[in-house]
Amino acid sequence: MEEINLLAEKLCAEHKLSVSEYEFLIKNRTDYVTEFLRQKAVDIRKSIYGNSVYIRGLIEFTNRCKNDCYYCGLRKSNLNCDRYRLEEKQIVACTDEGYELGYRTFVLQGGEDPFFSDEVLCSIIRKIKQNHPDCAVTLSVGERSEESYRALFEAGADRYLLRHETADELHYSKLHPEGMSFKNRMNCLSVLRKTGFAVGAGFMVGSPFQTEKELSEDLKFIETFQPEMCGIGPFIPHRETPFAREKSGSAELTCFLLSVIRIIKPNILLPATTALATLIPDGRERGILSGANVVMPNLSPLAVRKKYELYNNKVCTGEESARCRVCADKRMQSIGYQIVVDRGDMKSF
Ligand code: 5AD
Ligand code: FES
Repeated sequence: MEEINLLAEKLCAEHKLSVSEYEFLIKNRTDYVTEFLRQKAVDIRKSIYGNSVYIRGLIEFTNRCKNDCYYCGLRKSNLNCDRYRLEEKQIVACTDEGYELGYRTFVLQGGEDPFFSDEVLCSIIRKIKQNHPDCAVTLSVGERSEESYRALFEAGADRYLLRHETADELHYSKLHPEGMSFKNRMNCLSVLRKTGFAVGAGFMVGSPFQTEKELSEDLKFIETFQPEMCGIGPFIPHRETPFAREKSGSAELTCFLLSVIRIIKPNILLPATTALATLIPDGRERGILSGANVVMPNLSPLAVRKKYELYNNKVCTGEESARCRVCADKRMQSIGYQIVVDRGDMKSF
């Protein structure tokens, strides 16, 4: 049999490959291998999660950010970004609305905004957990101190998303300004785990300067770090960033990597991301059909949605939360899956 097919079989049997094997797999993938791995990923996913899809209500509570990542539309150097910050009561109101819509996980995502001190964030977390003790709170608020992570965990936060962005230190330095460090980011992920959070890593597909080599390092990182969650989506340029003229990542490669990651870690929580849905109209469906098992519809107030612009033409910025919820339902039903009212913790297998 061809080498590429044997490698795909090896991945399925061992749930891991060497970095150079991952690289070979990505570079030499054929339609046949892609479909083979997709089917395996779907089978594995079904054996653990059935046809259930977990939903997370995403609340983009501040677009202010002290960082200046070259790829992101919220970077501080973007003076054309209309900045906002939600108040505690607005955030809590989003979760109350979300609860009625069937969400049992709320993701609080924001730029690195110093206004949200530990005190301010902990108060919000406590309030949400007090109103909805049956819900999980996920934070996605960037790099903070160990002490801060501990305070947030003790206030009741359950999970933490911090994409590693790239597992290659040199590549990391090409995506971020001096002063942002790869080592600190990786250290934050370890600290988050040690603190007790369910941890999410992740990366963009097709970010500038990325080759199959960097992607294979990302896969090795997922395989060795074993995060509970992994967010991957295509890079999409934002017009007000240094990468404005770079090209978008590939939806096909993103879907291929979703399948590979499902096989590497069978029970991982893997979202079909908004970036994928922005790049192709059936991105959520394609993501699920490639091995993802989570969707994260937007729960932010309509008035601020367009302002949380990580990349150009982000979808779902004009929809009411209730409509996004119905839309997600319809999309999943159309491919034979069912959104469930559930916290959606990672299952053991
Ligand atoms: N294209 C795709 N994804 C992006 N992100 C930030 N900017 C972009 C972009 N231009 C992703 C990053 C970040 C997450 C919140 O959004 O991976 O961690
Ligand atoms: Fe928001 Fe489809 S999920 S409009």
